[in-house]
Amino acid sequence: MPEAQRIRVPDLEAKKRRGERIAMLTAYDYTMARLLDRAGIDVMLVGDSLGMVVLGYETTLPVTLDAMVHHTRAVSRGVERALVVADMPFLTFQVSVSEAVRNAGRLIQEGGAAAVKIEGAGAVVEVAARLIEVGIPVMGHLGLVPQSVHQLGGFRRQATLDEDAEQLLADAQALEEAGAFAVVLESIPAEVARAVTKELRIPTIGIGAGPYCDGQVLVSYDMLGLSQNGVPAFVKRYADLGDQTVAAVRAYADDVRTGRFPAPQQRAPTPALAEVEAE
Ligand code: KIV
Repeated sequence: MPEAQRIRVPDLEAKKRRGERIAMLTAYDYTMARLLDRAGIDVMLVGDSLGMVVLGYETTLPVTLDAMVHHTRAVSRGVERALVVADMPFLTFQVSVSEAVRNAGRLIQEGGAAAVKIEGAGAVVEVAARLIEVGIPVMGHLGLVPQSVHQLGGFRRQATLDEDAEQLLADAQALEEAGAFAVVLESIPAEVARAVTKELRIPTIGIGAGPYCDGQVLVSYDMLGLSQNGVPAFVKRYADLGDQTVAAVRAYADDVRTGRFPAPQQRAPTPALAEVEAE
């Protein structure tokens, strides 16, 4: 596929069939979305992790639908190629199927996303089926589901017991059956992710789920070294933009205080200013 051609929902399953891995990252704003898109990321997730990495909350639970629509719109404006997927935040898809349809519709209609992601299984499978029926593609999310952090007792590894691993496989199959086009597997043992990946026709996207998934996702702020509160052990840091930002800002503040900035070459070349300088 040529670089600039937009990634569509069916392309992900085609990638799995061809044995091509899927690269997915989170994005929350226009500038980052443009950069990730230029770099050729396949799927851009407007994750509700924005509550933690952008808004400074301790969990994803306070994130509202309005916030998700706002950030999804910004990301969509910056993307030409990647598939934009928006998270449905806590309590926007669990209350009733009709509320879920209306809320998902806002992420598509106002936010410009091509698909939504919803956490969990059980009653959520029925929600997924209805969204798909009305034409809204759904990505599932199983394993460590951060919106259930209190029920799980913290951000801890899931499906470590055989019965939980079996349940996770059954949940993934139910989501596939309902028509989901992919499923995120978060913080589960690599062998469990391998078994799910083998059994499913649709792609699995892993985060802290080992190397056997059909794709991988990370929180962009974590892999770029921007997150300031520590990152999970499974994150690989590809840059230290946090440290670089602090160094750059220190240098700027120092230049301002000592009068080195603005130097003559940074003065605005406006005619008015040129006239002032000529006097
Ligand atoms: O919100 C998010 O960033 C996510 C990813 C961690 C998969 O759901």
